[in-house]
Amino acid sequence: MVFMFHSKGPTFWELARQALSSTERGYDLLAPKFDFTPFRTPDAILTRVGEYLGTLGGFDAGLDVCCGTGAAMEMLRPHCRERVVGLDVSAGMLAQARVNTAGAPGEAVLEFVRGDAMRMPFEPVFDVAVCFGAFGHILPKDEPRFVNEIARVLRPGGRFVFVTSTMPPLWSLRYWVARGFNGAMHLRNLLVSPPFIMYYLTFLLPRAQQLLESAGFDVEVTDVQFEKPWTPLRLVTATRR
Ligand SMILES: C[S@@+](CC[C@H](N)C(=O)[O-])C[C@H]1O[C@@H](n2cnc3c(N)ncnc32)[C@H](O)[C@@H]1O
Repeated sequence: MVFMFHSKGPTFWELARQALSSTERGYDLLAPKFDFTPFRTPDAILTRVGEYLGTLGGFDAGLDVCCGTGAAMEMLRPHCRERVVGLDVSAGMLAQARVNTAGAPGEAVLEFVRGDAMRMPFEPVFDVAVCFGAFGHILPKDEPRFVNEIARVLRPGGRFVFVTSTMPPLWSLRYWVARGFNGAMHLRNLLVSPPFIMYYLTFLLPRAQQLLESAGFDVEVTDVQFEKPWTPLRLVTATRR
């Protein structure tokens, strides 16, 4: 058997089957093995974001948009007094998130909600929202709607905290690997339906900042530094006016 990434991770064929399913079904299939793939946001990134959130003084209610298996919910919980909600379109990922976060430090109530990030079933009740590893699932044409939706569910003064980067240089390997992957996904989505929406190099700076400002956020690109190989990442805080 050819395992991808890890002996507990998906095999090549499992990954191929997932990639040929819809986004939702693909993640349902991947859920039990997702934490053994590089698609789960690494703890090195989450720890640094958690340290940063700790400097902001705590929140009542937090939202993890596209929470997957709950990695960022676990990070968020000690910073929230009342509740942490994980929203994801995949029931399989949410089930795994429930298992993974059962012993997460903190007192806030954990809630798991199945839904679409583009139409979230919430009123403006959150003080902080985070989103990791999921911007690639939102087509660039849908990004303005996405940031408006984040703004809608935040209270005035609420923060949207996330990491992104600028476009890698044209001569970098990272750029061409991402472009190659995107080309393969465009071809896959031309040939196979339903689509699996997953593209790299999306929601980058400075466009993400412009979109957020247009949606009524004040945006700060912080000077938080990430360790290698995550040094290109920038931590962004968008505060709803
Ligand atoms: C790569 S995983 C990242 C999971 C987690 N945030 C992390 O960083 O480990 C992307 C997640 O986004 C979810 N997702 C994709 N499109 C979505 C949508 N439109 N609404 C809600 N969740 C979505 C998938 O089901 C999957 O769990």
